[in-house]
Amino acid sequence: MDNFTYCAPTRYIFGRDTELETGRMTAQTGCSKVLIVSGGRSARQSGLLDRVMKSLDDVGIEYLELTGIRPNPTDDRVYEGIDLVRRNGVDGLLAIGGGSVIDTAKAIAGGALYDGDFWDFWAGKAVMQQALPIGVVLTIPAAGSEGSGNSVITKTDGMRKISLRTDYALRPKFAILNPELTFTLPPEQTAAGIADMMAHILERYFTPTSDVETTDRVSEGILMAIINEASKVMANPHDYQARANIMWAGTLAHNGVCGCGRREDWTSHGLEHELSALYGVTHGAGLAVVFPAWMTFMASHRPEKVAQLGRRVFGITGDDDKAVALKTVDSLRAFFGSIGLPLTLGQLGIPNPDYATLTRKFHENKGTPFGPYYPLQPIDTEAVYRLML
Ligand code: NZQ
Ligand code: ZN
Repeated sequence: MDNFTYCAPTRYIFGRDTELETGRMTAQTGCSKVLIVSGGRSARQSGLLDRVMKSLDDVGIEYLELTGIRPNPTDDRVYEGIDLVRRNGVDGLLAIGGGSVIDTAKAIAGGALYDGDFWDFWAGKAVMQQALPIGVVLTIPAAGSEGSGNSVITKTDGMRKISLRTDYALRPKFAILNPELTFTLPPEQTAAGIADMMAHILERYFTPTSDVETTDRVSEGILMAIINEASKVMANPHDYQARANIMWAGTLAHNGVCGCGRREDWTSHGLEHELSALYGVTHGAGLAVVFPAWMTFMASHRPEKVAQLGRRVFGITGDDDKAVALKTVDSLRAFFGSIGLPLTLGQLGIPNPDYATLTRKFHENKGTPFGPYYPLQPIDTEAVYRLML
């Protein structure tokens, strides 16, 4: 196990009706005027935005709005938000939605306190040290941004989708998690969220670091819980207990606890970010195609950890790591298929992928070679993309 520091300072408020606490929690962060960031329709349609605004009114917190944030959020909305914050004396951000909304709010929170172009942080030209306080009311368990220090933004010029990782600056001050808010999710978003949270655990599970048994077992336990609860939420979207378990799993998957003491991989996310930047696919659905393909490649190049996953999580038996690893991929694909996720690029709506561009952009953004678990050269990267057809 490697040395590590772990601090996840977000306060989680979990359970029914907890969105009514938004005003009180925002006041506790010391904010007096917030920018509410939200998505296209769902939070307004369900009445959630009205309830949040009333709870702000009740404690005398002023607010203005930035609405219509789309999935795979882009830099133009961040610039718009920074401008609103600066012109109106806003001192905090309130994100009502999923990863796209939260990541936009985070980028505004960091960019508003910086004299230069906010993209400098994403381009690696500056290190973010501070941001305005961020609060979250989560409506989709998926990206885990409610507990992470990350923000993923696409620069429209060149369609570069980049994940910025900060240790603390972008971790929300509080996150309100009411599983009932997820009842309205369409099945494909529920399933994509499940794939994404599983991927967040797997990116950490596939590590070159040895002797991380405790963190491995924590990860395997959360994966098994997700697999168990997934069929229940798909069968009955109003199953509160199953929704609650999935929601908490999504947060634990990405708030750092599954990465303690080890190097993390993140190759599959890099491969997927190129798909969503180029073809606009849903992040979690893209991962359902990417991860099994990457694991198939690893079955031939570094099968041990894939086989461990198969034996411990999917109950696969056998002594030959490669054979067990390939069966693990079959099991993972069968699970994704059972909740309606796409399994190939064709099913993802990409019948003729531009392998050369995907490969080139992956290495431009991540470096060459890339992959702590098993370093990919461009020829390997293209081979992994081809395994997705
Ligand atoms: O815009 P609305 O109308 O709200 O619809 C959204 C959107 O269309 C809908 N939705 C959300 N909550 C709903 C709902 N529909 C009905 N009822 C509800 N309760 O769901 C759709 C997807 O929303 P989005 O925010 O895009 O989902 P997600 O949380 O999956 O976020 C994806 C983004 O997060 C990034 C991804 O790359 C992608 O850009 N990620 C961010 C991470 C981070 N910051 O730590 C890590 C992840 O790996 C990921 O890369
Ligand atoms: Zn993800």
